[in-house]
Amino acid sequence: MSRAGLDKDPREVAEMFDGVAQGYDRTNSVMTLGFDRRWREWSRRVLDARPGERVLDLAAGTAVSTVEYAASGAWCVAADFSLGMLLGGAHRPVPKVAADALHLPFADDSFDAVTVSFGLRNFNDTEAALREMCRVVRPGGRLVVCEVSTPTFRPFRFVYMRYLLKVLPVVARFVSSNPAAYQYLAESMRTWPDQRALAETVARAGWEDVAWLNLTGGVVALHKGTKPSGNRK
Ligand SMILES: C[S@@+](CC[C@H](N)C(=O)[O-])C[C@H]1O[C@@H](n2cnc3c(N)ncnc32)[C@H](O)[C@@H]1O
Repeated sequence: MSRAGLDKDPREVAEMFDGVAQGYDRTNSVMTLGFDRRWREWSRRVLDARPGERVLDLAAGTAVSTVEYAASGAWCVAADFSLGMLLGGAHRPVPKVAADALHLPFADDSFDAVTVSFGLRNFNDTEAALREMCRVVRPGGRLVVCEVSTPTFRPFRFVYMRYLLKVLPVVARFVSSNPAAYQYLAESMRTWPDQRALAETVARAGWEDVAWLNLTGGVVALHKGTKPSGNRK
């Protein structure tokens, strides 16, 4: 079974997710001990989308994240470049688009908000993807990124990093359709920037008012930003 390398070659990443699509939602819930549902609820609250708004859920996979946002009454579209993942969520009643995060098939200023959950870490150019997200959102529009991060309590961080590297791929052997992908997951989590470093990247990509909220002690962080409206004093 395939796994991507840490250079995050887009073809390898797409193939790897095609390989985990079957049973992805269940595996995710097992691996996160059910916390994934809470993290999604928090993402929806922070995004604060309203009826009539247009929301792009990027790297949406099986659209499990998109239906959470759609519960707010906004029009939400799921975009992902793994056809396997999109097909895995075919039963979910939201529009789906096959799209590469670095070359989005949308005009400038098309959306009121853009969000990406557990996807940004897999893009091979984080800053370029954040710039592309900024392009398709209207001035004044919002960004919310939900991503694994660095636990803030040092002793827990130590144990967590061990758990990640050793236990995660072992558990995946029993519950995933592509256990090798979970070795990649553990490695990509370890090498991912912490909260502050990611906030700096988000700001460099053109977003302003960048801030973050730690969830579950920093195991996950929500980063938010706003596209400059150009008429600030
Ligand atoms: C871990 S899944 C997250 C799915 C969903 N957002 C969730 O919260 O469960 C990561 C997704 O990112 C997608 N992805 C990775 N790189 C991408 C890219 N360059 N363009 C579009 N999708 C990408 C993968 O295909 C995969 O479906």
